[in-house]
Amino acid sequence: MAKGFKQSLILLLLLISIRISLSVKLQSSQVEALLRIQSLLNFPSVLSNWSKKTKFCNLYPSPSVTVVCYGNNLTQLHISGDNKGAPKLPHNFSIDSLVTTLANLPSLKVLTLVSLGLWGSLPGKIEDLSSLEMLNISSNFLDGKIPEEISSLTNLQGIVLDDNMFSGEIPDILGSFPALNALSLRNNSFDGSLPKSLGKLSGLRVLTLANNKFSGEIPDLRGLKNLEKLNLENNSLGPDFPQLENKLVILILRNNKFRSGIPAEIESYYQLKNLDISSNKFMGPFPTSLLSLPSINHLNIAGNKLTGTLSRKVSCNYALKFVDLSSNLLTGDLPDCLESKSKNQIVRYKGNCLNMAGDGSQHEYSFCRNEALAAGIVTSSKKHEQTKKAILASCIVGGISVLAVLIFLVLWLFRRVYAKKKLHAKTPRVISEKAATNYTSSKLLTDARYISQTMKLGALGIPAYRTFSLEELEIATNKFASTAFMGEGSQGQMYRGQLIDGSLVAIRCLKLKENHPIKHLMPHVELIANLRHRHLVSAIGHCFEYYLEDSTVSSLFLVFEYVPNGTLRSWISAGRARRKLTWSQRIAASIGIAKGIEFLHTGITPGIFSNNLRITDVLVDQNLSAKISSYNLPLLAENMGMVTHGASTRSKEAHTRIEHEDKMDIYDFGVILLEMIMGIQIKTRSELNAVRNQVQASLEADEATRRSTVAEEIRNTYSDESLKTMMEICTRCLLKDPSLRPSIEDIMWNLQFASQVQEAWQGGESRCSSSSTRGSSPASPLELPKLRFTIH
Ligand SMILES: *[C@@H]1O[C@H](CO)[C@@H](O)[C@H](O)[C@H]1NC(C)=O
Ligand SMILES: *[C@@H]1O[C@H](CO)[C@@H](O)[C@H](O)[C@H]1NC(C)=O
Ligand SMILES: *[C@@H]1O[C@H](CO)[C@@H](O)[C@H](O)[C@H]1NC(C)=O
Ligand SMILES: *[C@@H]1O[C@H](CO)[C@@H](O)[C@H](O)[C@H]1NC(C)=O
Ligand SMILES: *[C@@H]1O[C@H](CO)[C@@H](O)[C@H](O)[C@H]1NC(C)=O
Ligand SMILES: *[C@@H]1O[C@H](CO)[C@@H](O)[C@H](O)[C@H]1NC(C)=O
Repeated sequence: MAKGFKQSLILLLLLISIRISLSVKLQSSQVEALLRIQSLLNFPSVLSNWSKKTKFCNLYPSPSVTVVCYGNNLTQLHISGDNKGAPKLPHNFSIDSLVTTLANLPSLKVLTLVSLGLWGSLPGKIEDLSSLEMLNISSNFLDGKIPEEISSLTNLQGIVLDDNMFSGEIPDILGSFPALNALSLRNNSFDGSLPKSLGKLSGLRVLTLANNKFSGEIPDLRGLKNLEKLNLENNSLGPDFPQLENKLVILILRNNKFRSGIPAEIESYYQLKNLDISSNKFMGPFPTSLLSLPSINHLNIAGNKLTGTLSRKVSCNYALKFVDLSSNLLTGDLPDCLESKSKNQIVRYKGNCLNMAGDGSQHEYSFCRNEALAAGIVTSSKKHEQTKKAILASCIVGGISVLAVLIFLVLWLFRRVYAKKKLHAKTPRVISEKAATNYTSSKLLTDARYISQTMKLGALGIPAYRTFSLEELEIATNKFASTAFMGEGSQGQMYRGQLIDGSLVAIRCLKLKENHPIKHLMPHVELIANLRHRHLVSAIGHCFEYYLEDSTVSSLFLVFEYVPNGTLRSWISAGRARRKLTWSQRIAASIGIAKGIEFLHTGITPGIFSNNLRITDVLVDQNLSAKISSYNLPLLAENMGMVTHGASTRSKEAHTRIEHEDKMDIYDFGVILLEMIMGIQIKTRSELNAVRNQVQASLEADEATRRSTVAEEIRNTYSDESLKTMMEICTRCLLKDPSLRPSIEDIMWNLQFASQVQEAWQGGESRCSSSSTRGSSPASPLELPKLRFTIH
């Protein structure tokens, strides 16, 4: 009872106070300001009955005009013109005078001036509106940059500049608005990248940047604990999925440049109602759990490269009203819960590879498979559509008659085999109908000089080397379709393909500059056939293409094993799309690369040096084992007109140079190590020097300093001893004088040491997923001397 009485008393007092405030007259200076505003806005029809006599504080609020007073001060002013969009105000309009006049309303907290034809750029004087908490000036013709002076309006809670012509970058001043809860810049011409300070707006609930020209990475937004709506539609943002807190209700990333996978965290977005990531290049698996998020009712993933096999049993949220899966690479069956029959539900799925009997809306299964492969392997290679087509055309010219080539090849092989049979009458040989010859039985391979004993092929799990027919490669790549094109490097165009037995391959198409007679090419091909190693992307065969007139070779296709897991860099520093390698895995990867280099230098004779190794040329396979994908194949280098060290004999002078060349690979290895330790992408020489000096300095510093230097992802996963060892190896590899750089054997030895120390630190149980840290370890860590570097 007492409580009820108290409440009605409060209500009564409230009503009285409102009456009082309503009846109070607005200060005359503020009345003047309002009338001046009416005139500055060129007497819009919505203000037609404002005059000196108007009791502004008593005006009845309408959707287009509302004036709110507190005491004798004006606190809110809302004016919206014609909602179809007013024309631009005449030439004598001055935004400067308007802002100056508004500054005569010192208690103005909320200002809405929408669709009034305002034009010009906001003057720095806007800072004079010092009480402002909410600014909505949508649907005008305002242009230019946001003035930095706006940062002194620290009470701002909302900034709405939608549908104007503002441009330039957002100044990095957002940190000055601790109270901001809505920022909406939709439909302007803002560009540049988003400022870091965006991540500091911890009170922000609505962020709308749609329809601008923003580009680049989105800063970390995990500090936006209250963010409910994020709309980035129609920009050029990407490539990585934004980092967000999981309270979002609406997330719209439509039509940007996102190219990453969808992070697993999205499954924890329990409030998410509307998710639209359509028209990007998102790749990787489509998490079907999105269909059953607790709050989801609108899901649009159309127009991406998302993969995965759907099944009938996948479950959906019953509230799901709209689902668009169109134009992705999905396979399998449409989930039963999306078979909209009785439900008031829209479901779209055309342009995938789903099993929809009799429905013409789906691609063949192989289409999705091939596209998925392309998306998986080429993350950064630039496609030059035109040159690609031109060169492809020339690759295929001369091979118009596949049959003729085949006949020629068969004849040639017969001749060759027949000739050999005469010499080694006892060696049996088999020729398959596809004119395949088996290079594993080549004399080169059995010659111990050419291949080290540890590299027995059986252990590698790579199919035997053989010759391919052009026809086979055309089938594998769907006639070198543009969808099979992976990229173009210094060593020709790459295509991915799928052989008839289902295995995946990468095919390098090399148009030879000069026409080579086949006998000139055979030694090269035999060398390539022997470059097989666990840590090299190995060739599994080749195919020649001939000119019909003189039977010389016009193009060479090299067929390589397919390595599915992207580049090493993508596991170290690039993007946030996938988890990063642990310290142990990084050591294992380093050992893998070192073994690959060792094989190139010493596993075959003559060795292959100056491989110009880059972290982006190291690929990662399904076991996270590192494989070098690009090495200095003499034939390819020759074709590019470079100096080579092929099978020819060498002078002494050349020999000393080559000794230095093995140290060039050591240097490149040092750069890769640097990136693995620091987790920073190194692209220029000055970056390289700076980072190397940092490592050098932290090597001499204490443990805590070192910890703060290294890549964030590994900070708590390493033993300091193993880190120091790796840093030591790294800095030595990067020494200026090549003769002071360690040999590859010394590097291997020290890497093994680092690995063992790390294993011991982890309690004897290696958590590495790669087996390469184990094996030929020299001794237990305790017996090892600290570091071993001999100078060569
Ligand atoms: C002012 O004009 C509006 C229509 O534009 C009308 O609804 C309102 O009653 C008028 N107010 C006065 C005080 O005349
Ligand atoms: C109106 O504003 C003036 C100056 O800003 C201030 O001194 C005065 O206290 C305000 N009146 C009310 C009722 O808030
Ligand atoms: C601006 O020009 C218009 C005519 O185009 C005129 O009616 C209006 O009074 C002028 N306003 C000012 C503030 O000079
Ligand atoms: C800005 O003002 C207009 C007109 O009052 C309104 O329709 C719109 O919703 C406002 N925008 C925001 C983001 O509050
Ligand atoms: C963007 O704003 C302009 C006016 O500034 C308007 O004409 C156009 O319709 C708006 N576009 C969208 C998509 O809202
Ligand atoms: C994005 O662009 C499309 C096409 O220009 C347009 O229809 C859509 O309204 C834009 N979205 C937003 C949020 O402005």
